[in-house]
Parts: sequence; C-alpha cells; structure tokens
Amino acid sequence: MASFFQLLAGLLAITFSVALADRHPINDFCVADNKSPVRVDGMVCKDPKLVQDDDFFHSGLHIPGNTSNQLGSKVTLVNILHIPGLNTLGISIVRIDYAPYGVNSLHTHRASEILTVLKGTLEVGFVSSNPENRLFSKVLKKGDVFVFPTGTIHFQRNLGRRPAVALAALNSQNPGVTTIGNALFGSKPKFNSDMMARAFQTDTKVISNLQSKF
Ligand SMILES: *[C@@H]1O[C@H](CO)[C@@H](O)[C@H](O)[C@H]1NC(C)=O
Repeated sequence: MASFFQLLAGLLAITFSVALADRHPINDFCVADNKSPVRVDGMVCKDPKLVQDDDFFHSGLHIPGNTSNQLGSKVTLVNILHIPGLNTLGISIVRIDYAPYGVNSLHTHRASEILTVLKGTLEVGFVSSNPENRLFSKVLKKGDVFVFPTGTIHFQRNLGRRPAVALAALNSQNPGVTTIGNALFGSKPKFNSDMMARAFQTDTKVISNLQSKF
C-alpha cells in the first residue's frame, strides 16, 4: 500500500514536472544538476552558488559535421546535454551540414524551429496536418530564414554542387527527433506488414523490402 509519503512524493514529482518543463522560468536560471537521481520533466537545479560560467557555454559549432553517410547530412546538436544552463529555458541550437545534394530527411520534433542558411542553397519545407496536408516550401539562399512549426514533418535538401551549412534554433532545451523513415520502417519490433501495406497502398513485398533497409 502506498504510504502517505510515497503519495506526497508522487504529487511533488508532478508539481516539479510542470515547473521544470520548457515554460517561463521563475528564476534567472536553474542550471541542470546532472548528478541528481531525481527524475522530473527537465532537470533539477544545481545550487546557484556552485554555478560556473562554463554552465552556460559550449564550443564546437564552427566544426563541420561529417556528411559521409546515406543521407549526406549531419546535424550537430547543442542542447541541455551540452549546456546545463539551458535547463528550463526552452531553447537549443543545431548546426546542419549538407553534402552536395544531401538531405536532412523528413522528421519531426517537440519544438518549433527557425533556420537560417549560412552557406549554399537549400530547398526546405513542411507539411500541414490532415485534411489539407499542404506542403509549404521555399528555396533558401545565404541569409534567408524559414520556420518549421512544432510537430510538422519537415526537411531540408541541398540543391547545390557545394556543401551547404545552416544554423537552427529550437524552442525546447531537448527537442528530440523522430525520423520518419526510421520510425515507419525501422521500428523494433517491426510494424505489421499487412497494416503497412494498407497504409501505404502497396503490397507486403515492398514493405518488407523497405523494412530490411532500416
Ligand atoms: C566520416 O565518416 C565516414 C563514414 O563513417 C568515415 O569513414 C570517415 O573517416 C569520417 N571522416 C572524418 C573526417 O571523420
């Protein structure tokens, strides 16, 4: 039987999970205490007296990501895991490198994203939800900015013969990412192939073939 204290701890955990999520902070900062065993939505705060300049710092976004992979792109994240001071602030940043004609393939995350091109030319887009499923898309050059609303499936594609680079900010300290191809065809265990064949209006052979590649 749950004791009064267990119940109280549960209630406190719920209260903290609300307080520590990506919302308006109620202190200047709540630098993540990575060593705390307490589990909440977000991280518990370090003693402010122990907070250091480096808690708000990360170096390395000048380094190009390695794009030698199937997609020809590499996302370099800087989130709560890299900057403890991001805790409760609801922001993070990524650098994205694209090989010639490389793609950051269809994906979605728990955050809106605002992206700017530093180098090259990108085709970008997102699709709205049912029933419209409207594709909003633009070709961006250096200095152009585009927004991907939270939850929408979106992509970027390098249209050029040279590498491209973008920088993007997201309104979550830990946006996560669901890559559509991986989620659909690389789930563990696999989705039922009859269901998938119906969903994609194809046959189970096509589905099995796709599943074998992820
Ligand atoms: C980039 O990744 C490829 C494939 O994993 C690897 O063979 C190559 O050594 C890497 N290049 C650098 C500079 O790390």
